[in-house]
Amino acid sequence: MNRPTAAIILAAGKSTRMVTDLPKVLHEVCGRPMLAYVIDACRAAGIGRIICVVGYRKDEVIKAFADDPDLIWVEQAEQRGTGHAAMVCGDALTDFDGNLLVIAGDMPLLRTETLELLVQRHEKERSAVTLATAMLDVPTGYGRIVRDEYGNLEGIVEESDCTEPQRRIKEINPSYYCFDKKLLFQALEDVRPDNVKGEYYITDALKILIKNGHRAVAVTAVAAEDAMGINSRQQLAEVGRIMQDRIQRNLMCNGVTIVDPSNTWIDIRAEIGQDTVIYPFTYIHGKVKIGKHCIVGPFAYLRDGTALDNDVVAGVFIELKNTIMGKGTRARHLSYIGDARIGQRVNVGAGTIFANFDGHQIQQSTVGDETYIGNGSILVAPLTVEAGQQIAHGSVVRQHDNGSRDGSS
Ligand code: UD1
Ligand code: MG
Repeated sequence: MNRPTAAIILAAGKSTRMVTDLPKVLHEVCGRPMLAYVIDACRAAGIGRIICVVGYRKDEVIKAFADDPDLIWVEQAEQRGTGHAAMVCGDALTDFDGNLLVIAGDMPLLRTETLELLVQRHEKERSAVTLATAMLDVPTGYGRIVRDEYGNLEGIVEESDCTEPQRRIKEINPSYYCFDKKLLFQALEDVRPDNVKGEYYITDALKILIKNGHRAVAVTAVAAEDAMGINSRQQLAEVGRIMQDRIQRNLMCNGVTIVDPSNTWIDIRAEIGQDTVIYPFTYIHGKVKIGKHCIVGPFAYLRDGTALDNDVVAGVFIELKNTIMGKGTRARHLSYIGDARIGQRVNVGAGTIFANFDGHQIQQSTVGDETYIGNGSILVAPLTVEAGQQIAHGSVVRQHDNGSRDGSS
């Protein structure tokens, strides 16, 4: 990138089609809000100034990104369309000149490489606007790319405004634009809400630039798989599936065996070591770390804050929450372990329950190395079990006030 580049991410919409109380961009895809993916792609492309336009339940959106102080939030009080959303960013960009990416916040599948390519082409072609397009077999719901007989870009027509022949166009607008900042804001002044929805469309700014003789380039650079925006619960699920495939592919490339990918769900935040085998019906949610040579599942549920060292077994019907397990520890069958620090080479017998909630608060347990926990035991937190202890099958283990442990069956 030779010129400075900033980005506007559009995230103010209410999303009627999702039928939801939650702002659309906070709906999660593989464990993170969809907006987080768009922000990350911009950051990874080296964009320093990222403006997010928020409106509908804006406080919730801003709060969800409280750990990202670099983001600039601009309010669009009334959602009058994507063009209007860009317009309200004028004040936040008065001191800026250069490339301005405008991206919809509802498309988490976008890739950093595509943004980089878009900016590169924009600079190379010296265009006023460059957009990346995609070819879809079923283009329903997207703005169609209209070109003249020589292939030159003429404009984008929303589906609701399409003529019958335009409806058949398979090249669509995934909403990745790179504008010359000054020219965009000039063009936005002329955008009118003269369409079926009565909204100010960002896509009309492009048409105006072309009409005024500026250079506009469309690059077919977005793979069909990446083009999907999320406007409905069905699309949320479809995008989630595609993202899940990407996560799993990446893990497999790093040496993780996933026996049945379509019956496994792994959070984008999870880390899994080489030669670990994930058996079917495993659900890994949250920041979970799994070491090398572990066995997980079938039917395992690993939740946020869980960290397994190497050679751990978390077998069939095991739920782990906020639990650390040392090297070589095994919980093979039917256990709930919450808020525990378990040492190395511990045997957690079948049916063991860590009772971590006393009715008022969550309590912690610690279990030392090489402890043997017999089948069907209940460990009542708060509890500390010293290393090397044997707990008889069917024990209820509680801590005495003086700190010693009482096993009764
Ligand atoms: C938009 C494009 C369409 C494209 C599609 C790709 C326009 C007019 N249409 O349609 O050509 O094919 O994306 O997914 O741009 N938003 C605001 N403020 C508003 C309206 C929308 O911030 O006033 C935000 C939404 O929160 C959303 C994004 O802009 O994140 C896109 O809006 P959406 O309503 O989803 O547009 P589409 O109908 O998908
Ligand atoms: Mg959309």
